[in-house]
Order: sequence, then structure tokens, then C-alpha cells
Amino acid sequence: MSSTHFGFKTVDESDKARHVRGVFDSVASKYDVMNDLMSMGLHRVWKRYTVRVADLREGYQVLDIAGGTGDLAMAFAKEVGHTGRVVHTDINEAMLSTGRDRLLDHGVVLPTLVCDAEKLPFPDNHFDVVSVAFGLRNMTHKDAALQEMCRVLKPNGKLLVLEFSKVAKPLEKAYDWYSFNVLPKLGKMVAGDDASYRYLAESIRMHPSQEDLKALMKTCGFGHVDFHNLSAGVVALHVGIKC
Ligand SMILES: C[S@@+](CC[C@H](N)C(=O)[O-])C[C@H]1O[C@@H](n2cnc3c(N)ncnc32)[C@H](O)[C@@H]1O
Repeated sequence: MSSTHFGFKTVDESDKARHVRGVFDSVASKYDVMNDLMSMGLHRVWKRYTVRVADLREGYQVLDIAGGTGDLAMAFAKEVGHTGRVVHTDINEAMLSTGRDRLLDHGVVLPTLVCDAEKLPFPDNHFDVVSVAFGLRNMTHKDAALQEMCRVLKPNGKLLVLEFSKVAKPLEKAYDWYSFNVLPKLGKMVAGDDASYRYLAESIRMHPSQEDLKALMKTCGFGHVDFHNLSAGVVALHVGIKC
């Protein structure tokens, strides 16, 4: 049996999804407030930037993977109009239903589907844009997920991967201190769960750097890949074109 990482721990590959589910089952109800607190509101700016780069048009077919509480899906829905469609998906029912309720509270009704990014239940060449925000890091087989994202995109379609990345060297020490000291304490205080926020900090360190993710996306079928560093590389937006 193969092993993989779950944060800094080594776990059996077949067990990682269960560990990840545990994290998101635990944090779902406090996910949005924690996002605002941890990033001091910056995640809203990163997502707004992602929506700009998506450059959606009326009538576009969009798939949001690992969509969680629905920030991107809600913003995309405003751009594609009545003739377009945004499908809001996630592997975790607690995250997805929290998101669906939130979308309904905002008067946004979208198709919502529990599905694993590694086995997408959609036909080939179907979507104009696919997005995954802060989700890829948690997936067991990132290559399989990226290949699936490429498969369901139309030729010339665009994949947007918004994810934590490698921060600029001068900020490393401060960022490490914040991640390993402040985040778990904040998690404990607000969500009653320090372990999930320790996993967050660890999983960020285990995620491929900007250049490594770019190379991986290329091997998974994207002919052109670029990345945009945001907040000195705390986050990067990778844009892959299926060509
Ligand atoms: C940090 S949340 C991001 C939620 C939302 N996209 C956002 O930016 O706020 C990560 C999400 O990835 C989902 N996820 C993890 N593994 C997945 C997989 N294999 N397929 C689909 N979603 C997955 C989790 O359930 C969780 O909702």
C-alpha cells in the first residue's frame, strides 16, 4: 500500500480523504468567520481577483470544484447571467450544504453536487471555466484531479487554481510564526478545534511551490500555464489553458 502526507503526518493513501473529511466536517459551521479572521479579510480580495481573471461571459458553463461555502460560485453566478450555469460542487456534504444555504439566503439557486475532484461526473469538453480555490492542497492524487479538470474543460477552456503557495523569503519567518502559533490558537478559540488549523498550516508547507505546480499542470494536459503571486506568494493563482 502507498503512503502520502496529511499535513506533516504520513498516512495510508486510502485514508487521506477520510482525514480531510474530518477536518472539514469539524470546521464547516465556522469556516467563513475563520476565513475572515485568519486572512484579515484578504481571502475576499484573492477571490475577487480570481473572478476578474476568469473573465466570464453571459452564457458560460462554469464548474466550481471544492466550492465549499460558495464564495466563488456566488460571484461567478452574477457574471454568467440566466443563459449560463455555475455548478457548485464539493466532496464534503457539511461544507456544501452550509454553502448551499448561504447561496439560498442570497437568492442564488445553483446546481449543487457532492463529488470527488478525482472522478468528476461530467462529460468531456463541457465547461468554459473550471475553478478550484484552496481545495487542490487537500486532494490525495493532485495529478488525477488536474487531469479530470482538463478533461471536462472545452478546448481553450480555462482552469483557475487559487491556492496557498510559497511565500517570499523575507516573510518566511514571520509567516511561519503566525501559521504555527496564531492559527491553531484562533482555531481553538473560534471553532473549538486547533488540530484542523494546525493541519492547514502543515498542508500549506507540503503543497507544491508555484513553479512545481505549474510543471504539474503542464504534465496533466494544460498547454499553457501561468501563475500570479498574490500577497507576496502567500497565495498564487495558477491559470491553465487547455490547448
Ligand atoms: C479550504 S476549503 C475551500 C472552500 C472554498 N473553495 C473557498 O475557497 O472558500 C477546501 C475544500 O476542499 C474540499 N475537498 C477536499 N478534497 C476534495 C476532493 N477530492 N474533491 C472535491 N473537494 C474536495 C473540502 O471538502 C473543502 O470544502
